[in-house]
Amino acid sequence: MKRLALLGSTGSIGTQTLDVVSRHPDKITITAISAGKNLDVLLPQAERFSPELIVVADEETAQKFKKAAPSFQGRLKWGEQALTEAATHPQVTHVVVALVGSLGLVPTLRALELGRVVALANKETLVAGGHLVHEVLNKNGGTLIPIDSEHSAIFQCLKGESMSEVKTIWLTASGGPFRGYTKEKLKKVTKEQVLHHPIWKMGNKITVDSASLMNKGLEVIEAKWLFGVSPEQIRVVVHPQGIIHSMVEFVDGSVIAQLGLPDMKTPIQVALSFPERWDSPSPRLNLAQVGTLTFEEPDLETFPLLRYAFEVASEGGSLPTVLNAANEEAVRLFLDEDLPFCEIPDLIHAAMKSHQKKTFPSLPEVLEADRWARQFVKEAGSREKSTTTKP
Ligand SMILES: NC(=O)c1ccc[n+]([C@@H]2O[C@H](COP(=O)([O-])OP(=O)(O)OC[C@H]3O[C@@H](n4cnc5c(N)ncnc54)[C@H](OP(=O)(O)O)[C@@H]3O)[C@@H](O)[C@H]2O)c1
Repeated sequence: MKRLALLGSTGSIGTQTLDVVSRHPDKITITAISAGKNLDVLLPQAERFSPELIVVADEETAQKFKKAAPSFQGRLKWGEQALTEAATHPQVTHVVVALVGSLGLVPTLRALELGRVVALANKETLVAGGHLVHEVLNKNGGTLIPIDSEHSAIFQCLKGESMSEVKTIWLTASGGPFRGYTKEKLKKVTKEQVLHHPIWKMGNKITVDSASLMNKGLEVIEAKWLFGVSPEQIRVVVHPQGIIHSMVEFVDGSVIAQLGLPDMKTPIQVALSFPERWDSPSPRLNLAQVGTLTFEEPDLETFPLLRYAFEVASEGGSLPTVLNAANEEAVRLFLDEDLPFCEIPDLIHAAMKSHQKKTFPSLPEVLEADRWARQFVKEAGSREKSTTTKP
């Protein structure tokens, strides 16, 4: 029996993970779950799965939970430290990290240090501290399995293959809601348009990242660490139908792709069932019904964040941490309607340029670079707000 700690149970990946778990009660059980503040979703989960440990974001949410669920028998904790407690719970064999943002880094490191299997949806963890995760994996031999659909595809294409025979990793991208737009047209997009992804229904932060192509940029850095390839070996191709989830090209010219309907339950289950395969949790692919698959180059001029991510992937050090944290804050400003969508890239670029790079940052240095970049963007954002609100 696999015993799971699920970090981020109330989010898009978290709820779909519980859906997968519900289909396999003979194979997986829930030991710990963590949420932020969404009690509407958390309370029924607590009732249904009776976890031994529940973690929420803060004390206020914990008090509200206690009041609403007086008969809950397990332990209740709050705060960032408690996320690590859930990830390192002594009974847990598998940890799903479905948190959003670099908040996932420390719990992931600690779970891997204990040799747990970590199924990682939280790409920001590998962008912020991929070198630290890599180091822990080398030292402790824990197992890291990607949930992100592109990386799950590559993970599956590489099964039984030798990395020395891989020429290129091809990440597919839907292109987001603004595929084909010009920079001028991007100036007028609304929050509602940004939050309307043509294919995937996801949390707000990743939906904004998909519209700016930052999501693909983060995935480039994620692929670098997951598969130990150089940024030069990673290519992005826009594939609007979202049927081919990614591909691997080998030295002999063969290309192996993984296909399926766009449904995150499949990669979630692949990560949980590994090394087995279980019955499909999703509708099956019928290529004759899909009809046409198309491909095009990404537009790096209109969507410069993808270009910055490639640059940062090559430069390394603390720069990826800064790119990620600056993006998290810029997206927050955008969602709070304090920053236009088209200004997100400039703000991130300014943070990258102002940062004093550390070449081999330790965990405290990564956390400091993360804090610095958030502060940089917050201050720049409030300067922007005060200029735009002047009469
Ligand atoms: N959604 C997808 O289809 C998809 C696909 C591929 C990869 N991913 C990646 O998976 C991760 C999760 O994405 P998502 O779309 O599932 O995000 P989401 O829907 O926004 O869910 C985020 C989860 O994190 C929790 N959380 C947020 N802030 C927290 C805090 N301060 N303390 C504790 N918990 C906190 C949220 O709790 P509350 O809601 O209770 O506050 C929620 O459970 C991201 O890294 C994303 O890039 C997602």
